[in-house]
Amino acid sequence: MKIIKPKLSVGIVGCGRIFKKHYYAISRNKNLVLKSICDINSQKLSNLNFVKNLDKINKYTNLTLFLKKEKLDICVICTPSGLHPKHVNLASNYVKNIILEKPMSTSLRLAYGMIKNTEKKKCNVFIVKQNRLNKPVIFLKDILAKKLLGKIKLITTRVRWSRNLEYFNQAKWRGKWKSDGGVLANQSSHYLDLLLWLINSKIKSVSALSTKIVDKIEAYDTVIGNVKFSNNTIANIEVTTGSLPKNLEGSISVFGQKGTVVINGNSVNILEHAYFKNKKIDKKNIYSEFPKDVYGFGHQRFYSEVSKIITNKLNNTFSLKSSIQCIELIHAMYRSSKLNKTINLSSKKNKSFDKMEA
Ligand SMILES: NC(=O)c1ccc[n+]([C@@H]2O[C@H](COP(=O)([O-])OP(=O)(O)OC[C@H]3O[C@@H](n4cnc5c(N)ncnc54)[C@H](O)[C@@H]3O)[C@@H](O)[C@H]2O)c1
Repeated sequence: MKIIKPKLSVGIVGCGRIFKKHYYAISRNKNLVLKSICDINSQKLSNLNFVKNLDKINKYTNLTLFLKKEKLDICVICTPSGLHPKHVNLASNYVKNIILEKPMSTSLRLAYGMIKNTEKKKCNVFIVKQNRLNKPVIFLKDILAKKLLGKIKLITTRVRWSRNLEYFNQAKWRGKWKSDGGVLANQSSHYLDLLLWLINSKIKSVSALSTKIVDKIEAYDTVIGNVKFSNNTIANIEVTTGSLPKNLEGSISVFGQKGTVVINGNSVNILEHAYFKNKKIDKKNIYSEFPKDVYGFGHQRFYSEVSKIITNKLNNTFSLKSSIQCIELIHAMYRSSKLNKTINLSSKKNKSFDKMEA
């Protein structure tokens, strides 16, 4: 007789723009069931006409009550970025698994605190890093693991997206240092995560310059910078949301002594060039995909990875600890641009900042 495993119950906190991606990813996963939702704005809870059987889903406007009553297997946090540490710390008192939208925090001090607290409570936190699961990115990670590009000397990332004042005015938290963290924390954190994940080496030093194209917002929407890694790879980063009037690019390029790979598209979705060990990959289309928006197909794949990790008690490859270097890099880039000097990340004093700032 086949044993039917019970589905993992899921609750989502924050029913704003990204909620839809989470809803579809959960509803298409046969191991998961959406049991409840929570938003401080009650209108957001009812304006969800795409949700099947919405009347059967429990709804809350108070997070503590939601956590206390629901006894969930997984709590998903999709609230504004500056609230992530507070909401993770609260949820870790009631659940064993949390899915947290990126970025993990806009404060380094709170990010370290969150790691310590959730480890103490034995609560698993999975940060949404859906771009790692894009077809061309999986292809690149695999050839790097097989060392087919030889020694990697240079990695670059470019984000040229378009976010106008209307976008920033959609919610009070957008474009602010404390609640959003500017272009590096918000729109570019996936790309910085990929860069660090692919190179897999400690950061030695960082230098950067910043500016604003939409000058009415508080935080920077444009940053360029360089990174030196312990393994002597160098990186170039160029990110902006001031590419008018539309998104143009979200790319990663890796240059090794035996080959080069370029992943392009609006969100690292197209394998544009792959050459290694005297071999050029011609069937590039099988490693490319064409999603309708910049968030891609990855949320669904991400949920399927997370449910596998939880069910089979595997190692959490999306953990807070494995993401802390990304937050350190973001702080160091802003700090470098503020002080107009190179930031040495081997020094402990450069790892204790409370907030991102200009
Ligand atoms: N993975 C991705 O590609 C991706 C894409 C977009 C957004 N995000 C991230 O998702 C998060 C949310 O972004 P969004 O665009 O959906 O924002 P949003 O402003 O559209 O939605 C946030 C929701 O959280 C609710 N909220 C605020 N405080 C709350 C509280 N205490 N309890 C319950 N609900 C509360 C708000 O009322 C709002 O409905 C951000 O951290 C953002 O960076 C990730």
